Amino acid sequence: MAENEIAELEARLAMAAEALRKSEERSTAGQLALEVMHEIRNPLEALGNITYLTRECADDPAEVRNYMHLAEEQMASLNQIANQTLSFARTSQVPRPIDLVGLAEAALRIHQRAIAAKKIRLLKELPERIVAEVHTGQMLQVVSNLILNAVDALPEEGILSLRVRKRDGEVHFVIADNGHGIPKEHSSEIFKPFFTTKEGRGTGLGLALSKNIVERHKGRIRMRSSVRPGKSGTIFKISLPA
Ligand SMILES: Nc1ncnc2c1ncn2[C@@H]1O[C@H](COP(=O)(O)OP(=O)(O)OP(=O)(O)O)[C@@H](O)[C@H]1O
Ligand SMILES: [Mg+2]
Repeated sequence: MAENEIAELEARLAMAAEALRKSEERSTAGQLALEVMHEIRNPLEALGNITYLTRECADDPAEVRNYMHLAEEQMASLNQIANQTLSFARTSQVPRPIDLVGLAEAALRIHQRAIAAKKIRLLKELPERIVAEVHTGQMLQVVSNLILNAVDALPEEGILSLRVRKRDGEVHFVIADNGHGIPKEHSSEIFKPFFTTKEGRGTGLGLALSKNIVERHKGRIRMRSSVRPGKSGTIFKISLPA
């Protein structure tokens, strides 16, 4: 897919999402369509970034191969979504051993442009390798969703920290930001489908899908947040059985 085709698809998707959101009545079909849109938006955005990055490093074959591999993963993920529209019932794909540190780095790369545009400072605590069995595309989507939420919440020059570690027979992804935080009264709402404070921009499905995916991996997703001025910020922690 060429970059402009992707951009056009994204634009059409955004318009369709907007139209759906505006229709007060959220029928089951509408919910499903929104869910699918949310899922394909990430790989589409990733593919857009990957083609851009590939062009930037066109004379480095190793880097190009690396990006092509990422592109293949994203296309596999799109394929999967197309084949099984109802993601909440998605079970057939088998998990395979994958390096979660590489996965976290890939999720960061997907949002590289947004991170650079906001001059966000990145703190990474990533060991060399942590291998666990996951559905790669789905877990990439989860980490990518959490990074994007953090980026959305951050002011210019805010801090985004990303940690992957192994502890007590579990692996943890920790995504933290010093953005505006989540008020207490929202903390039980954020994992519900369609809860969003990003009127006109968010579908409110990111965390609902992420929680569902993590739980299907027999893991947990937890959040701590503060809105105290000067000390605000949010931490999301995903624990998976190692
Ligand atoms: N890191 C964060 N900092 C502050 N608020 C957050 C953070 N992550 C999530 N939220 C809050 O939780 C809400 C729900 O998040 P979720 O990812 O489910 O949907 P969204 O980001 O609003 O929309 P979408 O992911 O579909 O684009 C957000 O609208 C925001 O209010
Ligand atoms: Mg989100």
